[in-house]
Amino acid sequence: MIGRINHIAIAVPDLAAATARWRDDLGAECSAPQDLPEHGVRIVFVSQPNGKVELMEPLGESSPIAGFLVKNPDGGMHHICYEVEDILAARDRLVSSGARVLGDGKPKIGAHGNPVLFLHPKDFCGTLIEIEEVTG
Ligand code: CO
Repeated sequence: MIGRINHIAIAVPDLAAATARWRDDLGAECSAPQDLPEHGVRIVFVSQPNGKVELMEPLGESSPIAGFLVKNPDGGMHHICYEVEDILAARDRLVSSGARVLGDGKPKIGAHGNPVLFLHPKDFCGTLIEIEEVTG
């Protein structure tokens, strides 16, 4: 059902410092920072030929990654995103097999303009899973 890994997201306490690490120390190509107020994060995309890492810092008062950074003050891997062709079909299959979809179960538009859903980390070995509908 799942396709390519679209991105791996890392929560960071200081986006500028994290970007400098990835760009200057690892020699990675980093985007300009982008505010996503509806998701409560500011992100930088780190692009490799075979995939992306997203560095994210909290944006605003009620950022969904604030709690994660309290538990992981140095930052840490936050979620992994897999591509699916049909997000509603994927959701229905997951729900019927007992997986929990976070929120109201309706896809939201994610950082790349595509519908996304998140799956409960307790159902996937402690890892938050994002699924993103990517067509074409
Ligand atoms: Co993501």
